[in-house]
Amino acid sequence: MKLMQESIGDIARRGISLLDDSATQRALEAAYSSQAAARAVQTSEAVFKKLTTVRNDPEIVCAFLAGWRAMHGTALYVSGLMVRLLRERAVAHQPAAELIGNAAAEIAEIIAEDTGVADIPHNELFAEFARTACGDNRWELAKYNSPACDRFRAYVKDARLHGPIQAAILTTAASENWNTGEYTFFSASVVDWLMASRGLELNQAEKAARYVTAHAGNTELGHFLHAITAWKHYCAARQCEVDPELARTVTETYLSQVEKAFEALYTLF
Ligand SMILES: [Fe+2]
Ligand SMILES: [Fe+2]
Repeated sequence: MKLMQESIGDIARRGISLLDDSATQRALEAAYSSQAAARAVQTSEAVFKKLTTVRNDPEIVCAFLAGWRAMHGTALYVSGLMVRLLRERAVAHQPAAELIGNAAAEIAEIIAEDTGVADIPHNELFAEFARTACGDNRWELAKYNSPACDRFRAYVKDARLHGPIQAAILTTAASENWNTGEYTFFSASVVDWLMASRGLELNQAEKAARYVTAHAGNTELGHFLHAITAWKHYCAARQCEVDPELARTVTETYLSQVEKAFEALYTLF
């Protein structure tokens, strides 16, 4: 008998429970108890279930991959946030400069795997995953673009590159926390799906699925914890109190944006 799969929301909540600051923990819990969170969880899980259990037209798979990629390949904007922090450090005095440097170092750890400093860069893993899932590189054609997923990407880009630094860091934390749930949820079915839909052997499917499985479990969870630590260093540098209410509103906004993008992906099926 197969065990009930843990929901994206419950996985994200487990990450939140690891925080050592109970006020931020309660604030993020509250964000995950919002209507926006419930809708984001329900819609995104429905998308993954449709993708992996229904016999999909390759056109649908390509459109899913294009939209999903637009939502996720955003490590460049995390590097941009790190550059912003390093520029602030360059003109700050001690002890603020050191604390801002610490925040930048935490942000760097969020993209260690993405940039490939220890293993294969994640854009290469995604290309292999997508090529295998759709049979070729068609998913990259402009006709598969999803305006809603592009809007989600623009929101993430703007928050990290141009928004106030605290909100930029918290949007990144929200993303890593949500993605812990999303990738972990998808990783439970992705290998079986590739075997069934592409007729692959287990080892071929596992290799192609590495983009998804590499992010599941502790990977994105670790990034979330780095983002929260970065936020705390930054608040200390600027001598302001950590504001859990800001963490809640930024997270809730992030979840409502996620929901809109997945709503559009759901209409593909
Ligand atoms: Fe990644
Ligand atoms: Fe990450």
